[in-house]
Amino acid sequence: MKIEQRITVDFSYDIYFTRDVFGPENPILQNIFGHGKPRILVFLDSGVAAAWPGMEHRIGEWFDAHPQSGEMVSPVIIVPGGEQCKNDFEYLKVIARNMRITKLDRHSYVLIVGGGAVLDAVGFIASITHRGIRHIRIPTTVLSQNDSGVGVKNGVNLFDAKNYFGTFSPAYGVVNDLNFLRTLKLRDWRAGISEAFKVAIIKDRSFLLELVNKAKKLSERNEGAMEILIRRCAQLYRKKLPLDFKQLI
Ligand SMILES: NC(=O)c1ccc[n+]([C@@H]2O[C@H](COP(=O)([O-])OP(=O)(O)OC[C@H]3O[C@@H](n4cnc5c(N)ncnc54)[C@H](O)[C@@H]3O)[C@@H](O)[C@H]2O)c1
Repeated sequence: MKIEQRITVDFSYDIYFTRDVFGPENPILQNIFGHGKPRILVFLDSGVAAAWPGMEHRIGEWFDAHPQSGEMVSPVIIVPGGEQCKNDFEYLKVIARNMRITKLDRHSYVLIVGGGAVLDAVGFIASITHRGIRHIRIPTTVLSQNDSGVGVKNGVNLFDAKNYFGTFSPAYGVVNDLNFLRTLKLRDWRAGISEAFKVAIIKDRSFLLELVNKAKKLSERNEGAMEILIRRCAQLYRKKLPLDFKQLI
């Protein structure tokens, strides 16, 4: 006897575009969390915490002003920003331990505010804890807003191999807040633009021409041009590659 098991996994999630997501009047997180008063644990990239003094308190104040959206089960936890958090298992253990001691379960949420590395590391731990705690991403770099944060992958580095351990685990929701990009170092601002060129070359000729026309504005940190770039990349992320590559020429 043989039984064929077939499991189809279908994910969908919303990507919001806003400014000042933790402004007291901003309703986006409330839309995502609903009114079930879930337990929420917040992780914040240390680079963001340094560039935005008081951000951890501002996050706490947002939840104080929206008690129906959920309960912050701990003060905000700061995670070392950049690749270090993906390289060092001591940091990963701290992330995991905090999920344990705050008694997160599968009804809870992890809210991650940071660059691609912190999103990858905390998202990875969330995705393997209790076989998956829902996580919400607030990406704070250009690359994470136009690529890694809006996608489905998590990962950490091991044995000198990048993303050696990782999962496919989409976020429950993503909030791109353009204001965060103002404090990026020039290198990180430009790194995300190069990703947009890559996506445009592969998927969308007219977008590529637009990027070429706006190259100067983008490199001079024009926010309007950047906003369009990020939205377009997020839209293209879900678009399949054209079967006929001649379309690109
Ligand atoms: N999961 C995926 O699909 C995917 C795709 C592409 C890349 N990645 C991963 O993303 C990582 C790179 O991410 P990244 O380019 O976002 O950089 P990053 O996360 O390494 O951050 C770069 C630096 O900027 C700081 N920072 C973050 N936001 C800031 C802000 N708003 N203001 C000031 N400083 C800020 C960080 O603390 C860090 O020091 C790599 O680990 C890469 O493997 C993942």
